[in-house]
Formats: sequence, structure tokens, C-alpha cells
Amino acid sequence: MANDKEVIVLTGASGGIGLELARELALPHRKLVLIARDEARLEALKQSLENTGADLETKALDVRDRDRLHAFLSDLDNRNPVDVVIANAGVTAGLGPGRSRERDAEADRQMEINYRGVVNTVTGLVECMRLRGKGQIVLVASLAGMRALPDMPSYSASKAAVIAYGHSLRGWLKPFGVDVTIICPGFVTSPMSARHKGAKPFEMPADKAAGLMCKAIEKRKAFYAFPFLLATGIRLQNLLPARISDLFMGGFKAEIEDDPRF
Ligand SMILES: NC(=O)c1ccc[n+]([C@@H]2O[C@H](COP(=O)([O-])OP(=O)(O)OC[C@H]3O[C@@H](n4cnc5c(N)ncnc54)[C@H](OP(=O)(O)O)[C@@H]3O)[C@@H](O)[C@H]2O)c1
Repeated sequence: MANDKEVIVLTGASGGIGLELARELALPHRKLVLIARDEARLEALKQSLENTGADLETKALDVRDRDRLHAFLSDLDNRNPVDVVIANAGVTAGLGPGRSRERDAEADRQMEINYRGVVNTVTGLVECMRLRGKGQIVLVASLAGMRALPDMPSYSASKAAVIAYGHSLRGWLKPFGVDVTIICPGFVTSPMSARHKGAKPFEMPADKAAGLMCKAIEKRKAFYAFPFLLATGIRLQNLLPARISDLFMGGFKAEIEDDPRF
């Protein structure tokens, strides 16, 4: 049954930044719909948020499974028209052992989850929002999408694709009353970043990052990159000739440990 609460869909809610976003967003005037693959972790999160007064719903889904995701989002939107969707689910990988090339399966997986999974999440709701003439689409990209990290080719490319997709969506949807917010975090402490073995300047705790992200979402910012100093440095890199910029970006060399969830 539809209610008058603000309805927010969040993917990648079971861990890291998503989990802290859920904690930050869980308020009595909201219904939160929490999506990830790990049902047990979603259920534990739901239980931990029960005293917040928020209406909570969880759904174990893989964002790569477009048919199941769309069927769920369509049913949800019929029951509870969605106000905000936050496409946050993502994975990371990098070069292989001894700085050998990235494995094909990992290159594919990152594009499938980080880019196509985001598109699947958006396309499951965008027409409902457009026809209603209101809504907000939030895409969690990365500073690595603004200036690629040297050892994370497909991750950087997947996040650059998300940024480009978001800018395009915003141009299309603004006249229909639907806002698009692209968020580019720097290094945030999470299970993902724990597997990132390399320099992580200005790394910040996930709860702090979630707080900053929620402020940007509430202000309906078009684009938000943080932390400010690192984001400014990345913006400056893009003004330099590529060969000079490569020298600075060499400081971001990293090894990415395998993700035990895949
Ligand atoms: N941490 C950083 O330093 C950092 C920096 C910049 C950008 N980001 C971005 O921020 C987002 C969150 O990152 P994080 O650090 O919180 O990562 P994380 O700790 O690894 O959490 C990733 C979340 O995505 C979910 N997920 C992964 N694959 C999925 C799939 N196929 N379908 C549905 N859900 C899936 C995971 O849950 P399940 O395993 O239960 O599915 C988990 O809830 C990502 O998009 C990431 O690229 C992170």
C-alpha cells in the first residue's frame, strides 16, 4: 500500500559506504529499500535500523540481473512511487600478479556491475519518474572516473562511463523535473578500500563520507567530488599535458587484492 513517506532505493546497501548511507538516511519520514546480493547482511542491517522509525524493505538482488531488478523496481514503484534512487553498488579489481594485465573476467565484471548495473538500476525507474515529473537519480562514481588510476584500468573506465552517463541523463531529464546527482568519492574506508594496497591520501571513514554524500543529495547537487583537496588535485591533473600528469598519477600505484565475494 502506498504511503506518504519519501521513498529511497539504495543499491550496494549491505556494506561499506552503502551501509553508512542507509544509517544516515534512516529517518521516520522515509521508506528505505535496501538492495544487495547478501540477504543475511541486508537482514542484519534492517534489524539494526528498526528503532529509527524508518520504513525498511530489503531485497537480495544482483544489479546485473536486469529482468529481476526491473520486475522488482516496477512492482515497488506501483506500491510506493520512488522519490530517490541511489545507484551505489560497485566492485573493484586491478592488475594481475607481478603487474601483469588485468584478468578478462575482472575487466568484464567491473563493467557489468559498475556501469551496466548502474544503467539497469536507473532504467528500472527512470520512466516512472519522468512521467510523474519528479524524482532524483544519484550515481556513485569515483575520482578514478575523473582521472584514471594507473593500475585500475577497467575500474577507472567503468566510473568514467558512469560520469558520462549521468551528465547525459541530467540534460535529458531536467526539463521533466527529475534531478541527477553524480558523486565522486575519493578514498573511503570500506571492505573495498581494505583490498586496495597502495597510497590512499585523505582516506576518510565511511560514516563521514556518507554524511557528506547525503548533504550533496539533499542539496540536489549536479556533481559532487570529495574530499575537496584531492578532488581539486584531480581536476588540475586534467589541465596538464597527459605525460606530465602521468608522473603525478604514478604516486597512486596500487595492488588490488581479489574480492572474496566473487
Ligand atoms: N571505498 C572507496 O574508497 C570508494 C571510492 C570511490 C568510489 N567508491 C564507490 O562507492 C561504492 C561503494 O563502495 P564501497 O567502498 O562501499 O564498496 P564495498 O564495501 O565493497 O561495498 C560494495 C557494495 O556493493 C554491493 N554489490 C557488489 N556487487 C553487487 C551486485 N552485482 N549486485 C548488487 N550489489 C552488489 C555489495 O553487496 P553484496 O556483496 O551483498 O552484493 C556491497 O553492498 C562503489 O560504487 C565504489 O566503486 C568507493
